[in-house]
Amino acid sequence: MGPVLATSSLLLLISGLQWVSAAPAAAPLVSGSTSPVHETSLAAYTPTWMTSLDQWAAGTTTDYPIHASCNSSENALLRQALLEAEVLASHARDHILRYGNSSSYFLKYFGKSTTAEPAGWFDRIVNADKTGVLFRCDDPDHNCATQDSWAGHWRGSNASDETVICELSFTKKWPLGGMCGYGYSVAGSPTTAFFGSDLLHRLYHTDKIGEGVVGHYADSYRSCLQLAIDNPNEAVRNSATLRYFALDVSPRKVGSVAGS
Ligand SMILES: *[C@@H]1O[C@H](CO)[C@@H](O)[C@H](O)[C@H]1NC(C)=O
Ligand SMILES: *[C@@H]1O[C@H](CO)[C@@H](O)[C@H](O)[C@H]1NC(C)=O
Ligand SMILES: *[C@@H]1O[C@H](CO)[C@@H](O)[C@H](O)[C@H]1NC(C)=O
Repeated sequence: MGPVLATSSLLLLISGLQWVSAAPAAAPLVSGSTSPVHETSLAAYTPTWMTSLDQWAAGTTTDYPIHASCNSSENALLRQALLEAEVLASHARDHILRYGNSSSYFLKYFGKSTTAEPAGWFDRIVNADKTGVLFRCDDPDHNCATQDSWAGHWRGSNASDETVICELSFTKKWPLGGMCGYGYSVAGSPTTAFFGSDLLHRLYHTDKIGEGVVGHYADSYRSCLQLAIDNPNEAVRNSATLRYFALDVSPRKVGSVAGS
């Protein structure tokens, strides 16, 4: 089940992105996955007065903007990691849509909450308008230069949709394909060990993606599990909980794509 799911979800992500920018009919039919078929038939039955995608989507982008201050290697690594963040988020969203609260993972991280809110936070990572959600490498606030261990930071009141990436992100964060390696475990390792999952954290800090609501209500693995019991309404908008959940439902599947 692992490899099949992973492959279809990757294709789903890619076809989902194409669907926005290309002709709806071009969405490929993926065996073992119903969503592209569903999207294709939705498009086919959409009245023409509703199909002017270009018009209503004008001026928006589902791609994350990367500042020119990131050189070609940084740009390539960052693009890859952003794609991995989207893969993690789309897996997590699809898991919730498929299993709802009958999933033991859902109960573990979100307790008795309803399913729409966490599914929505994951979908924002993939499908929200990313205009202004800028990633830059020029260290405008001088934190990379002055804070020893910083791999990056949210620009906060200086630019609430912008994220600075420091060199440590490129040299120390792991690619998602290594999820079955590096001695990684969901319960025992930081959620920010992978460049992609670290970016989930950074993206939820931005006003545009996190809407000022996704935040730090609990951080450690233990305290996230406790939050699911004590306060499910906070668990569904807790940045660390969303990361733990995404990593917990995805690693074996994503790892199997890389052949491990
Ligand atoms: C990009 O910048 C990094 C420093 O962050 C440097 O090590 C690397 O050599 C640069 N790559 C290119 C292609 O300029
Ligand atoms: C799961 O959701 C259903 C309906 O949405 C609800 O009746 C049920 O109590 C929920 N179960 C748990 C364990 O939250
Ligand atoms: C915002 O800019 C000021 C002035 O450059 C700087 O001192 C501060 O650390 C910056 N804030 C963040 C979150 O980097």
